[in-house]
Amino acid sequence: MAAFQPSLECENISNIHSDQTDSDLIQKTDERYRETLPNLPKGKGWMTEHLVQYQGFWLTPNAALKNLMWVQDHFKPRPTDIFLASFPKSGTTWLKALIFATVNRTRYGFADHPLLTTGPHDCFPFLDAHLQEKDRSRFDLDRFVYICRDPKDVLVSKWLFLNKLRPKDFPPISLEEAFELFCQGISHYGPFWDHVLGYWEASLETPEKILFLKYEDLKKEPLVVVKRLGDFLGYPFSLEEESKGVVEEIVKLCSFENLSTLEVNKVSVQKFSKDTIIDNRHFFRKGKVGDWKSYLTTEMVERLDEITYEKLLGSGLVFGS
Ligand code: A3P
Repeated sequence: MAAFQPSLECENISNIHSDQTDSDLIQKTDERYRETLPNLPKGKGWMTEHLVQYQGFWLTPNAALKNLMWVQDHFKPRPTDIFLASFPKSGTTWLKALIFATVNRTRYGFADHPLLTTGPHDCFPFLDAHLQEKDRSRFDLDRFVYICRDPKDVLVSKWLFLNKLRPKDFPPISLEEAFELFCQGISHYGPFWDHVLGYWEASLETPEKILFLKYEDLKKEPLVVVKRLGDFLGYPFSLEEESKGVVEEIVKLCSFENLSTLEVNKVSVQKFSKDTIIDNRHFFRKGKVGDWKSYLTTEMVERLDEITYEKLLGSGLVFGS
């Protein structure tokens, strides 16, 4: 499961089984973090000064790495947990909303649904960011859902997103520089291709445990994908629900057009850690397939497509048409 470690998210995160006190556990992981950090390879950061490479993936050296170590050291999943994993900027926010709405559809009405007043990242919290809080469980499930997206759109989305988050005294990172780093695999939770392939291969081996989705499919056929999601999660839509238009309601509730215009997603913030607080609105930019065409040069497109082709060769996974 090593390839599953980066960027895990889960809904039920209150299950840390240990006889030790919280402060013992924190101290143990802190020690491991302090010992490990100086020995990790460094690469240029997009938002922070640098990233560090830990177990093959690039992470910010502060909270992201420490929280990941905390997960590795102390988190024991329950058979009923659900995890959502993704390479950042692949549609995580959208899928969080869809999973939350699908699983809880008999609990909440669409007119006063929690997603209308609570951001998707609060309804379905990041595993590592909330791990040290108490009483965080809201519902229990047992699967992995992974979402991926064309790396050209991921790159553009990520570059624009992280530039918004860069501290004011840091000059913005240029697209050329971001492109180079991305191609070298040096970006949060990168290399992109290793991340995607890890989950892709695992989904082929254990399709009953891992549902592998593409952002582009979700855009093209949201109803079909949401029905698959319901089946996979053990919450299949009944014929009656289908005829009443419940799937359509979920798709509409979670659509970019709806979520991005809600007050909570326009003005509230998402607190990932003491130091990382992000305006919810930054998670909603355009929500389109192929916006890379407005940013990437022909040379960039050719090079990125070539890398993707080579990395995915023989895997059966393809992006684009
Ligand atoms: P763009 O920057 O291309 O617009 P993540 O949630 O993994 O951070 O991904 C963010 C990307 O998903 C952004 O892409 C964002 O606009 C898009 N997105 C967010 N909510 C969406 C929704 N409900 N439907 C479609 N795309 C959405």
